[in-house]
Amino acid sequence: MNNQQLLDLIDKMTLEDKIAQLLQLAAPFYEGAEEEGQITGPMEAMGITESMITHSGSILGYAGAAGAIEVQNAHLRKNPHGIPLLFMADIVHGFKTIFPVPLAIGCSWDTDLAQKSAEVAAREAAVSGIHVTFAPMVDLVRDPRWGRVMESTGEDPYLNSLFAKAFVRGFQGEDLTAEVERVAACVKHFAAYGASEAGRDYNTVDLSERQLREYYLPAYKAALDEGCEMVMTSFNTIDGIPASGNQKLMRKLLREEWGFDGVLISDWGAVKELIPHGVAEDEREAAYRAITAGIDIEMMTACYVHELPELVRSGQVDEALVNESVLRILQLKNKLGLFDNPHRGANPEREAEVVYSREHRDAAYELAVRSTVLLKNDNILPLQKESSVALIGPFAQSGDILGPWSWSGSTENAVKLDAALRERLGREKLTVATGCGIEEGTQEQLDQALEIAKQADVIVLALGEASEMSGEAGCRTDIRLPQIQLNLIEQIAALGKPTTVVLFNGRPLDLHGVYDKVGAVVEAWYPGSEGGAAVADILIGAVNPSARLTMSFPYSVGQVPVYYNHFNTGRPQGAEDAQVRYVSQYLDAPNTPLLPFGYGLSYTTFQYESLTVSSEQMTSDSTLTVSVDVTNTGTVSGIETVQLYVRDISGEVVRPVRELKGFVKLELAPGESGKAVFTLNEEQLRYHHSDLSFKSDPGRFDIFVGGNSRDTLQHSFILS
Ligand code: BGC
Repeated sequence: MNNQQLLDLIDKMTLEDKIAQLLQLAAPFYEGAEEEGQITGPMEAMGITESMITHSGSILGYAGAAGAIEVQNAHLRKNPHGIPLLFMADIVHGFKTIFPVPLAIGCSWDTDLAQKSAEVAAREAAVSGIHVTFAPMVDLVRDPRWGRVMESTGEDPYLNSLFAKAFVRGFQGEDLTAEVERVAACVKHFAAYGASEAGRDYNTVDLSERQLREYYLPAYKAALDEGCEMVMTSFNTIDGIPASGNQKLMRKLLREEWGFDGVLISDWGAVKELIPHGVAEDEREAAYRAITAGIDIEMMTACYVHELPELVRSGQVDEALVNESVLRILQLKNKLGLFDNPHRGANPEREAEVVYSREHRDAAYELAVRSTVLLKNDNILPLQKESSVALIGPFAQSGDILGPWSWSGSTENAVKLDAALRERLGREKLTVATGCGIEEGTQEQLDQALEIAKQADVIVLALGEASEMSGEAGCRTDIRLPQIQLNLIEQIAALGKPTTVVLFNGRPLDLHGVYDKVGAVVEAWYPGSEGGAAVADILIGAVNPSARLTMSFPYSVGQVPVYYNHFNTGRPQGAEDAQVRYVSQYLDAPNTPLLPFGYGLSYTTFQYESLTVSSEQMTSDSTLTVSVDVTNTGTVSGIETVQLYVRDISGEVVRPVRELKGFVKLELAPGESGKAVFTLNEEQLRYHHSDLSFKSDPGRFDIFVGGNSRDTLQHSFILS
């Protein structure tokens, strides 16, 4: 259809029909509506009528090709305008083939693999009947108490932006109309959901506009620059106004300033939540605020269908606002080709062929090995072939390694660590015990664990957080491992044997009681369907770990938020003339995190030398070339992620002590040297000034290059 045909269609619709297009309900409403004349419990409770469902625009969380075809057919039989439903769902890091959680994907520093993961997820979802995914989630995160940090790629705006683009490219491909095995992407949660106070979900966000623009907005913008079709609002307030009713954010910034003309959807229930937030008296005011802010689709509450008809008829809301929203929704349906083929990619044969295929699982494996971060290694790893291994812990045999956003994945089918190690080491070399549960355990479990530990040469402890301990509404104030697991470490460590802890979890943890107790620590995150295989290959050295943290591991929760690109303060710790007491520091802990952004070990070592900068001066139309020689000084080949950071020594407003500006991966054989070469230009030195203008300041800049954000070589130049 062309745009005029869509406008003609809208002309034929009643006001109620149009408003129903703005309603999004979860799958059970449609299954219930199948039985003619039956109004199910939730429908009644929400005040949803069958007519609203018949005219509704989209459905949430339905998957399965045959069923989706049936639901669409049933819908089209009833809908007098022949407008197909949009099927939307959260395909965050895989559909059935589950990839590592996004925070882990971030640690790969590999945007090609990230793109590939989204492409695979899109294919599986699309053939199962899904048209839109609620991803990527690109909220910048600094507070590991917040359970949703596992959905983000981390604390850096530049890296998050690269991943945002890669995910959008992977989900959407080049041409959504032609490629039916892709899905439209919906970037979320706009905006700054990751900055919730005290790391508590759904909590207040209060940032200066400069801070918002400088750190939090770039990744959403990057996703939109890549052509992302949809945006989802966040639950939080921004400068006192909840995002889902925030005109300044949505109409002014997103629509007018950024020119976004795609579909804007509220998060689940967020329109009605304007009432408890305290900016709407009732559903009518909530609907008014949301539609005037420009929210097109209301997810899972019914303020629009209940209240917009009267708001329009009374003249309080211009019908043009409703028409605009409907047009955007119809345009998306049209772009997805739904008017010509309402089933789009849904295809039971393709579903049987591609979903959870070997090829897809291989892609998940590849990303899992590239996302697993070696945090500590006192010559314990890789495991020696001849060693007998005791594998102990609640994650030794657990399939709960997919992470909280894997509703369609199967924990049963996930490759478990014990099975993978048994396959690689041989049955006779591996003994396995649970040791304890995630949060509780028995003396008997502990005794069994100690028994096999005593018999073995080396011990691997598979520990972590159950997936429901992170993710949405999975916030914690104590981000250590649960006490029972710390006890297990204590008891096992007392045996004095080479011990490795492998962590399965969704956030940077406070590693007290772990890092200081054992010789090696591996952060596996929630590695996904092939997790056990990936971790086993890292443990035995079949793959040399290369991942790097994209979120700092705090020394303790009391430091949080602790992140690498912070300001220096007027009284920085460690300055030459610093006083003993009156500096910015803690009395009982270091300022620095335990493990900084960019950090991660390898089974080899890399030496950096000869940092050179092509000139001491840069102008607005010249570029600098920065290069460094890196040598693999160990005995196995490895991949080094060489990172370039910059510091603006004197800005109009204070500038971070380091900012990532680029990275290069070098794969080096033992003894081999390589050169990492970066180019820097004036544009990369721009930032938001106090009047929000985006420009650079002349003056001195420091350059840092190294294998993480802390251990670097340094140089400087002048921007004139
Ligand atoms: C989450 C979103 C998600 C939506 C739909 C909400 O609770 O915040 O991230 O896309 O549910 O499932």
